[in-house]
Amino acid sequence: MAEADAPLLVERTDDDVVIATLRNGKVNALSNRVLGAIGDAAAEWAKDPPGAVVLTGGPKLFAAGADIDQFVASDEGADDAVTLVDTDAVRSIAQAFRRASRALEALPCAVLAEVSGYALGGGCELALAADLRIASERARFGQPEILLGIIPGGGGTQRLARLIGPSRAKDLVFTGRQVDASEALGMGLVNEVVPHDHLRQRTLELATSFACGPRRAVALSKLAISEGMEGTLERGLDVEEDAFAAVFSTSDAAIGVGSFQQHGPGQAHFSGR
Ligand code: COA
Repeated sequence: MAEADAPLLVERTDDDVVIATLRNGKVNALSNRVLGAIGDAAAEWAKDPPGAVVLTGGPKLFAAGADIDQFVASDEGADDAVTLVDTDAVRSIAQAFRRASRALEALPCAVLAEVSGYALGGGCELALAADLRIASERARFGQPEILLGIIPGGGGTQRLARLIGPSRAKDLVFTGRQVDASEALGMGLVNEVVPHDHLRQRTLELATSFACGPRRAVALSKLAISEGMEGTLERGLDVEEDAFAAVFSTSDAAIGVGSFQQHGPGQAHFSGR
Protein backbone atom coordinates (compact mmCIF):
# COMPACT_ATOMS: atom_id res chain seq x y z
CA MET A 1 0.00 0.00 0.00
CA ALA A 2 1.43 3.39 -1.02
CA GLU A 3 1.79 6.06 1.63
CA ALA A 4 -0.85 8.77 1.34
CA ASP A 5 1.79 11.45 0.81
CA ALA A 6 4.15 9.38 -1.36
CA PRO A 7 5.62 11.59 -4.10
CA LEU A 8 5.19 8.83 -6.67
CA LEU A 9 1.95 6.88 -7.05
CA VAL A 10 2.61 3.50 -8.67
CA GLU A 11 -0.09 1.33 -10.24
CA ARG A 12 0.28 -1.77 -12.41
CA THR A 13 -2.38 -2.56 -15.00
CA ASP A 14 -3.72 -6.02 -15.86
CA ASP A 15 -1.59 -5.83 -19.01
CA ASP A 16 1.51 -5.34 -16.83
CA VAL A 17 2.06 -1.66 -17.57
CA VAL A 18 3.34 0.38 -14.64
CA ILE A 19 1.81 3.85 -14.41
CA ALA A 20 3.93 6.05 -12.15
CA THR A 21 2.41 9.42 -11.30
CA LEU A 22 4.45 12.27 -9.87
CA ARG A 23 2.70 14.07 -7.02
CA ASN A 24 4.49 16.97 -5.44
CA GLY A 25 2.67 20.20 -4.80
CA LYS A 26 1.23 22.44 -7.48
CA VAL A 27 3.87 21.84 -10.14
CA ASN A 28 5.47 18.47 -9.27
CA ALA A 29 8.69 20.23 -8.30
CA LEU A 30 11.43 17.61 -8.50
CA SER A 31 12.99 17.60 -5.06
CA ASN A 32 15.63 15.05 -4.09
CA ARG A 33 12.85 13.17 -2.28
CA VAL A 34 10.79 12.87 -5.47
CA LEU A 35 13.82 11.88 -7.51
CA GLY A 36 14.83 9.36 -4.84
CA ALA A 37 11.36 7.82 -5.04
CA ILE A 38 11.70 7.47 -8.82
CA GLY A 39 15.14 5.88 -8.48
CA ASP A 40 13.93 3.51 -5.75
CA ALA A 41 10.83 2.55 -7.72
CA ALA A 42 12.85 1.88 -10.87
CA ALA A 43 15.26 -0.30 -8.87
CA GLU A 44 12.25 -2.32 -7.66
CA TRP A 45 10.82 -2.64 -11.18
CA ALA A 46 14.19 -3.89 -12.40
CA LYS A 47 13.79 -6.94 -10.12
CA ASP A 48 10.49 -7.92 -11.78
CA PRO A 49 10.38 -5.89 -14.99
CA PRO A 50 6.95 -4.75 -16.15
CA GLY A 51 5.98 -4.80 -19.82
CA ALA A 52 6.33 -1.02 -20.02
CA VAL A 53 6.42 2.03 -17.76
CA VAL A 54 4.42 5.21 -18.17
CA LEU A 55 5.82 8.14 -16.21
CA THR A 56 3.28 10.93 -15.90
CA GLY A 57 2.73 14.12 -13.98
CA GLY A 58 -1.04 13.75 -14.15
CA PRO A 59 -3.57 15.56 -16.32
CA LYS A 60 -2.34 19.16 -15.84
CA LEU A 61 1.42 19.15 -16.20
CA PHE A 62 4.45 16.89 -16.16
CA ALA A 63 6.86 18.79 -13.90
CA ALA A 64 8.08 22.38 -13.68
CA GLY A 65 11.64 21.48 -12.90
CA ALA A 66 13.99 20.95 -10.02
CA ASP A 67 12.63 22.19 -6.72
CA ILE A 68 14.00 25.74 -6.73
CA ASP A 69 13.53 25.98 -2.95
CA GLN A 70 16.33 23.40 -2.63
CA PHE A 71 18.73 25.89 -4.21
CA VAL A 72 18.38 28.43 -1.41
CA ALA A 73 20.25 28.35 1.90
CA SER A 74 18.95 31.69 3.14
CA ASP A 75 16.95 34.49 1.61
CA GLU A 76 19.19 37.08 3.22
CA GLY A 77 21.24 38.75 0.51
CA ALA A 78 21.79 42.10 -1.13
CA ASP A 79 18.90 43.41 -3.28
CA ASP A 80 17.04 40.44 -4.79
CA ALA A 81 19.92 38.02 -4.32
CA VAL A 82 19.76 35.05 -1.94
CA THR A 83 22.45 32.90 -0.40
CA LEU A 84 22.62 29.66 -2.37
CA VAL A 85 23.34 26.22 -0.96
CA ASP A 86 26.91 24.93 -0.89
CA THR A 87 28.59 22.86 -3.58
CA ASP A 88 27.91 19.53 -1.88
CA ALA A 89 24.19 20.28 -1.83
CA VAL A 90 24.25 21.37 -5.48
CA ARG A 91 26.02 18.16 -6.45
CA SER A 92 23.52 16.09 -4.50
CA ILE A 93 20.74 17.62 -6.63
CA ALA A 94 22.54 16.71 -9.86
CA GLN A 95 23.23 13.23 -8.50
CA ALA A 96 19.59 12.69 -7.55
CA PHE A 97 18.59 13.48 -11.15
CA ARG A 98 21.35 11.27 -12.43
CA ARG A 99 20.38 8.27 -10.34
CA ALA A 100 16.67 8.54 -11.21
CA SER A 101 17.34 9.03 -14.93
CA ARG A 102 19.90 6.26 -15.17
CA ALA A 103 17.58 3.86 -13.35
CA LEU A 104 14.84 4.53 -15.91
CA GLU A 105 17.27 4.17 -18.80
CA ALA A 106 18.55 0.86 -17.43
CA LEU A 107 15.11 -0.75 -17.26
CA PRO A 108 14.71 -3.61 -19.74
CA CYS A 109 11.39 -2.27 -21.03
CA ALA A 110 10.05 0.79 -22.78
CA VAL A 111 9.61 3.89 -20.60
CA LEU A 112 7.11 6.43 -21.91
CA ALA A 113 6.85 9.99 -20.58
CA GLU A 114 3.26 11.18 -20.78
CA VAL A 115 3.42 14.98 -20.92
CA SER A 116 0.11 16.76 -20.38
CA GLY A 117 1.40 20.32 -19.83
CA TYR A 118 4.62 21.94 -18.66
CA ALA A 119 7.79 19.87 -18.82
CA LEU A 120 10.31 22.53 -17.86
CA GLY A 121 13.87 22.36 -16.60
CA GLY A 122 14.28 19.15 -14.64
CA GLY A 123 10.82 18.11 -15.85
CA CYS A 124 12.04 18.23 -19.43
CA GLU A 125 15.23 16.45 -18.37
CA LEU A 126 13.30 13.66 -16.69
CA ALA A 127 11.16 13.24 -19.81
CA LEU A 128 14.39 12.99 -21.81
CA ALA A 129 15.37 9.94 -19.76
CA ALA A 130 12.29 8.14 -21.08
CA ASP A 131 12.50 6.17 -24.31
CA LEU A 132 9.48 7.90 -25.86
CA ARG A 133 7.66 11.13 -25.14
CA ILE A 134 3.92 11.35 -25.85
CA ALA A 135 2.62 14.90 -25.54
CA SER A 136 -0.74 16.55 -25.23
CA GLU A 137 -1.27 19.42 -27.65
CA ARG A 138 -1.15 21.59 -24.49
CA ALA A 139 2.36 20.46 -23.55
CA ARG A 140 5.21 22.95 -23.30
CA PHE A 141 8.87 22.10 -23.07
CA GLY A 142 11.89 24.16 -22.15
CA GLN A 143 15.14 24.48 -20.25
CA PRO A 144 14.56 27.80 -18.48
CA GLU A 145 17.52 27.50 -16.09
CA ILE A 146 19.35 30.35 -17.84
CA LEU A 147 16.56 32.67 -16.67
CA LEU A 148 17.70 31.84 -13.11
CA GLY A 149 21.32 32.45 -14.07
CA ILE A 150 22.14 28.74 -13.93
CA ILE A 151 22.34 25.80 -16.35
CA PRO A 152 20.58 22.43 -16.62
CA GLY A 153 22.05 19.95 -14.13
CA GLY A 154 19.74 17.00 -14.60
CA GLY A 155 21.29 15.73 -17.82
CA GLY A 156 19.78 18.41 -20.07
CA THR A 157 22.99 19.57 -21.70
CA GLN A 158 23.76 15.96 -22.61
CA ARG A 159 20.48 14.18 -23.43
CA LEU A 160 18.87 17.16 -25.15
CA ALA A 161 21.87 17.65 -27.44
CA ARG A 162 21.96 13.95 -28.26
CA LEU A 163 18.24 13.89 -29.02
CA ILE A 164 17.69 17.10 -31.01
CA GLY A 165 21.26 18.03 -31.91
CA PRO A 166 23.66 20.51 -30.30
CA SER A 167 22.47 23.53 -32.27
CA ARG A 168 18.82 23.25 -31.25
CA ALA A 169 19.84 22.30 -27.71
CA LYS A 170 21.96 25.46 -27.45
CA ASP A 171 19.03 27.54 -28.70
CA LEU A 172 16.78 26.18 -25.93
CA VAL A 173 19.42 26.26 -23.19
CA PHE A 174 20.89 29.70 -24.04
CA THR A 175 17.50 31.41 -24.39
CA GLY A 176 15.40 29.47 -21.89
CA ARG A 177 12.46 29.80 -24.26
CA GLN A 178 9.56 27.39 -24.15
CA VAL A 179 8.42 25.41 -27.18
CA ASP A 180 4.88 24.23 -27.68
CA ALA A 181 3.98 20.65 -28.57
CA SER A 182 4.01 21.19 -32.29
CA GLU A 183 7.47 22.81 -32.31
CA ALA A 184 8.69 20.05 -29.98
CA LEU A 185 7.42 17.47 -32.45
CA GLY A 186 9.15 19.25 -35.33
CA MET A 187 12.50 19.17 -33.55
CA GLY A 188 12.17 15.51 -32.53
CA LEU A 189 11.82 16.31 -28.86
CA VAL A 190 8.57 14.35 -28.70
CA ASN A 191 7.39 11.31 -30.62
CA GLU A 192 3.71 12.11 -30.87
CA VAL A 193 1.30 14.91 -30.11
CA VAL A 194 -2.29 13.95 -29.36
CA PRO A 195 -5.46 15.81 -28.36
CA HIS A 196 -5.38 16.51 -24.63
CA ASP A 197 -8.38 14.33 -23.81
CA HIS A 198 -6.88 11.35 -25.66
CA LEU A 199 -3.47 11.51 -24.01
CA ARG A 200 -3.89 8.71 -21.47
CA GLN A 201 -5.67 6.48 -23.96
CA ARG A 202 -2.89 6.84 -26.53
CA THR A 203 -0.06 6.47 -24.03
CA LEU A 204 -1.59 3.32 -22.56
CA GLU A 205 -2.35 1.91 -26.00
CA LEU A 206 1.31 2.22 -26.95
CA ALA A 207 2.60 0.98 -23.59
CA THR A 208 0.23 -1.99 -23.69
CA SER A 209 1.35 -2.89 -27.20
CA PHE A 210 4.92 -3.13 -25.89
CA ALA A 211 3.84 -5.08 -22.81
CA CYS A 212 1.90 -7.59 -24.93
CA GLY A 213 4.56 -7.75 -27.63
CA PRO A 214 7.95 -9.44 -27.85
CA ARG A 215 9.32 -7.88 -24.69
CA ARG A 216 12.82 -9.28 -24.94
CA ALA A 217 13.15 -7.79 -28.42
CA VAL A 218 12.08 -4.38 -27.11
CA ALA A 219 14.54 -4.68 -24.22
CA LEU A 220 17.42 -5.78 -26.45
CA SER A 221 16.77 -3.05 -29.02
CA LYS A 222 16.62 -0.46 -26.21
CA LEU A 223 19.96 -1.70 -24.92
CA ALA A 224 21.56 -1.68 -28.37
CA ILE A 225 20.32 1.81 -29.27
CA SER A 226 21.11 3.35 -25.89
CA GLU A 227 24.55 1.77 -25.51
CA GLY A 228 25.31 2.41 -29.17
CA MET A 229 24.68 6.15 -28.68
CA GLU A 230 27.29 6.28 -25.94
CA GLY A 231 30.30 5.14 -27.92
CA THR A 232 31.84 4.67 -31.34
CA LEU A 233 29.96 3.19 -34.31
CA GLU A 234 32.24 0.16 -34.16
CA ARG A 235 31.40 -0.45 -30.50
CA GLY A 236 27.70 0.10 -31.23
CA LEU A 237 27.80 -2.47 -34.01
CA ASP A 238 29.36 -4.93 -31.57
CA VAL A 239 26.53 -4.30 -29.11
CA GLU A 240 23.96 -4.75 -31.88
CA GLU A 241 25.53 -7.99 -33.05
CA ASP A 242 25.43 -9.40 -29.50
CA ALA A 243 21.80 -8.30 -29.06
CA PHE A 244 20.84 -9.72 -32.46
CA ALA A 245 22.41 -13.04 -31.51
CA ALA A 246 20.66 -12.99 -28.12
CA VAL A 247 17.21 -12.25 -29.52
CA PHE A 248 17.33 -15.41 -31.62
CA SER A 249 17.31 -17.49 -28.43
CA THR A 250 13.98 -15.99 -27.27
CA SER A 251 10.69 -17.87 -27.59
CA ASP A 252 9.12 -14.84 -29.22
CA ALA A 253 11.61 -14.86 -32.09
CA ALA A 254 10.58 -18.43 -32.91
CA ILE A 255 6.91 -17.45 -32.57
CA GLY A 256 7.27 -14.29 -34.67
CA VAL A 257 9.23 -15.88 -37.50
CA GLY A 258 6.99 -18.96 -37.50
CA SER A 259 3.85 -16.84 -37.54
CA PHE A 260 5.17 -14.83 -40.47
CA GLN A 261 5.80 -17.98 -42.44
CA GLN A 262 2.35 -19.39 -41.67
CA HIS A 263 0.16 -16.27 -41.70
CA GLY A 264 2.14 -13.28 -42.98
CA PRO A 265 3.24 -10.18 -41.07
CA GLY A 266 1.72 -8.83 -37.85
CA GLN A 267 -0.29 -11.90 -36.78
CA ALA A 268 1.95 -13.31 -34.03
CA HIS A 269 0.75 -13.88 -30.46
CA PHE A 270 3.83 -13.29 -28.42
CA SER A 271 4.59 -14.86 -25.05
CA GLY A 272 6.79 -12.11 -23.60
CA ARG A 273 9.66 -14.60 -23.29
N1 COA B 1 10.34 24.73 -7.86
C1 COA B 1 9.64 25.10 -6.77
N2 COA B 1 8.46 25.76 -6.85
C2 COA B 1 7.99 26.05 -8.06
C3 COA B 1 8.67 25.71 -9.24
C4 COA B 1 9.90 25.01 -9.11
N3 COA B 1 10.61 24.62 -10.18
N4 COA B 1 7.95 26.15 -10.32
C5 COA B 1 6.86 26.74 -9.80
N5 COA B 1 6.87 26.69 -8.46
C6 COA B 1 5.86 27.18 -7.52
C7 COA B 1 5.68 28.70 -7.59
O1 COA B 1 6.64 29.34 -6.78
C8 COA B 1 4.28 28.84 -7.08
O2 COA B 1 4.28 28.69 -5.70
P1 COA B 1 3.22 29.52 -4.77
O3 COA B 1 1.87 29.17 -5.31
O4 COA B 1 3.49 29.02 -3.40
O5 COA B 1 3.56 30.96 -4.96
C9 COA B 1 3.57 27.62 -7.65
O6 COA B 1 4.59 26.67 -7.94
C10 COA B 1 2.82 27.88 -8.94
O7 COA B 1 3.68 28.59 -9.83
P2 COA B 1 3.19 29.89 -10.62
O8 COA B 1 4.41 30.50 -11.25
O9 COA B 1 2.38 30.77 -9.73
O10 COA B 1 2.21 29.22 -11.70
P3 COA B 1 2.02 29.60 -13.22
O11 COA B 1 0.95 28.70 -13.71
O12 COA B 1 1.87 31.06 -13.40
O13 COA B 1 3.42 29.21 -13.92
C11 COA B 1 5.29 27.82 -14.42
C12 COA B 1 3.84 27.88 -13.92
C13 COA B 1 5.73 26.38 -14.25
C14 COA B 1 5.39 28.25 -15.88
C15 COA B 1 6.18 28.75 -13.59
O14 COA B 1 5.93 28.51 -12.22
C16 COA B 1 7.63 28.60 -13.82
O15 COA B 1 8.17 29.14 -14.77
N6 COA B 1 8.35 27.85 -12.93
C17 COA B 1 9.77 27.72 -12.93
C18 COA B 1 10.25 26.78 -14.01
C19 COA B 1 11.75 26.69 -13.95
O16 COA B 1 12.47 27.67 -13.97
N7 COA B 1 12.24 25.45 -13.86
C20 COA B 1 13.62 25.18 -13.83
C21 COA B 1 14.09 25.10 -12.44
S1 COA B 1 15.85 24.85 -12.38
